[in-house]
Amino acid sequence: MQGRNSYKYESQKLASWYFTVAVILFGAQLLLGLVAAIQFIYPSFLYDILDFSIARIIHINALVVWMLYAMIGAVYYLLPEETGIETVGIGMAKLLFWILTLAVAVVVLVFIFVQIGPGKTSTIWFITEGREYLEAPRWADIGIVVVVLGFLANTFLTSIKGRRTGIMTVILADMIALAGLYLAGMFFTDNITMDQYWWWWVIHLWVEATWEVYVGALAAYGLIKIVNANRQVVEMWLWIEVAMLFGSGILGLGHHYFWIGTPEYWWEIGALFSALEPVPLIGMFVHVLYDWGKEKGMAMNEGKDTTSNNTPALMWLVSNGFGNFLGAGVWGFFHTLPQVNIYTHGTQFTAAHGHLAFFGAYATILIAMFYIGVQGKHGIKKLRSTFASNMAIFLLTFGMLGMTVALTIAGYEQVLIARAQLGATWNAFFLAQNQQWFAQAMDWRFFMGIVMTVGFVYLVKDLLTIAKNPKNVY
Ligand code: HEM
Ligand code: HEM
Ligand SMILES: [Fe+2]
Repeated sequence: MQGRNSYKYESQKLASWYFTVAVILFGAQLLLGLVAAIQFIYPSFLYDILDFSIARIIHINALVVWMLYAMIGAVYYLLPEETGIETVGIGMAKLLFWILTLAVAVVVLVFIFVQIGPGKTSTIWFITEGREYLEAPRWADIGIVVVVLGFLANTFLTSIKGRRTGIMTVILADMIALAGLYLAGMFFTDNITMDQYWWWWVIHLWVEATWEVYVGALAAYGLIKIVNANRQVVEMWLWIEVAMLFGSGILGLGHHYFWIGTPEYWWEIGALFSALEPVPLIGMFVHVLYDWGKEKGMAMNEGKDTTSNNTPALMWLVSNGFGNFLGAGVWGFFHTLPQVNIYTHGTQFTAAHGHLAFFGAYATILIAMFYIGVQGKHGIKKLRSTFASNMAIFLLTFGMLGMTVALTIAGYEQVLIARAQLGATWNAFFLAQNQQWFAQAMDWRFFMGIVMTVGFVYLVKDLLTIAKNPKNVY
């Protein structure tokens, strides 16, 4: 029997638009990452056509934007299921999608066509604000605020009208906090310390507090959906995770205040609270494995079907548990104490952690949501992995792990040579980058980037065709 060929709710259709743009931007991120990686090996590659600074800007801004798209999409996807009703104001929500997407396209084109020029007040408004990860110009910031206010209104009005669930309460409160924090990165001061001080409110409090809480809620939703986990148990875990994540993540902010000119008490605060941050990540990891195992065991005892409802999504959810713990927890912990960070700060070690954390904690679970979206579109009861699903998850995770190892080695070399041995001078910085361990690591990073890109091609192919897999159960 064949399933539906459309979504049950308009809100889920809108979610699929968000997911589509997210996948396109993910592809753009990888391509520009490859360009930047080649420029590390051949510095003159595309010189004056697509400079490293621009490749890097697009690489990391596309990253942030695709993840936000996927996150908004996931909310629109689960909103009608959690509340039991169609999203309120869905027409406006669709309009806002187009406005946002147009704005994103214009910003990317401006980045590409205006690569160099003076830094004036007008460039902050129209070209780039120059804050890493959030470089969109001021006009786009204002547009984003308007679109997000609309999104919050949709979510809020739907939640109060429909059924209340713990998952929805957490998501709603978290989205308000997440959006509010964006404002901290919008005003400009001439004082670089103050500017960085506020900029970290967005960057750190997003990825180590509000985004992590969102992932906890998404994992809870995913477990109920994929392995029929018990809602009461899952939501109880969720509340514990929320408390622990906020308890450590908010003041963990201090690990970015060690060397930017803020008072020295941040050393103690940052060291203590950020060192606690891996604890909730262990909790989240155990949570996924425990619930998966428990539900499977219960189904087995009752002689019921023990297979999951969506194998690729389950695989990505499990890799989220591992990846979040490794990338954010372990690689984050490595350099979070000031005694260590004074050596590792701003080396490729940071890049190793940044890559594995963003991938492990966020890319994985958002990809799981893409698969849940495909399943919903076609009304498939049990979605089964294909060869392409396996290749996608294998090549993407293997490539990312390989890249992390290469960057960790490069960072280690920088710590030893540029920092410990040669005393962190300007000259030492360049000398260290000419060492063969560094150079080889850059080659490996590029190679692993290609592995990931091939994995991405499999992912796209799979998302487009997995619904036709004959093993699916309708
Ligand atoms: C999923 C969660 C996380 C993500 C996505 C993430 C991502 C990042 C990124 C991209 C940077 C580089 C920022 C820059 O450009 O300067 C960074 C820096 C840092 N992260 Fe994380 N991180 C996460 C969690 C953690 C955790 C849990 C810890 C500690 C236990 C941690 C410790 C640090 C430290 C100490 C730095 C500063 C590195 C330096 O001094 O150069 N991170 N993180
Ligand atoms: C084809 C695969 C990829 C390649 C070749 C690549 C390459 C690069 C390069 C060359 C940089 C600039 C590093 C520097 O300035 O020293 C960079 C930065 C970054 N990339 Fe990637 N990347 C890839 C995939 C990804 C993915 C999948 C993610 C996240 C999910 C990611 C997240 C980041 C982040 C957060 C930074 C900033 C790191 C920092 O400043 O510490 N990249 N990447
Ligand atoms: Fe942080």
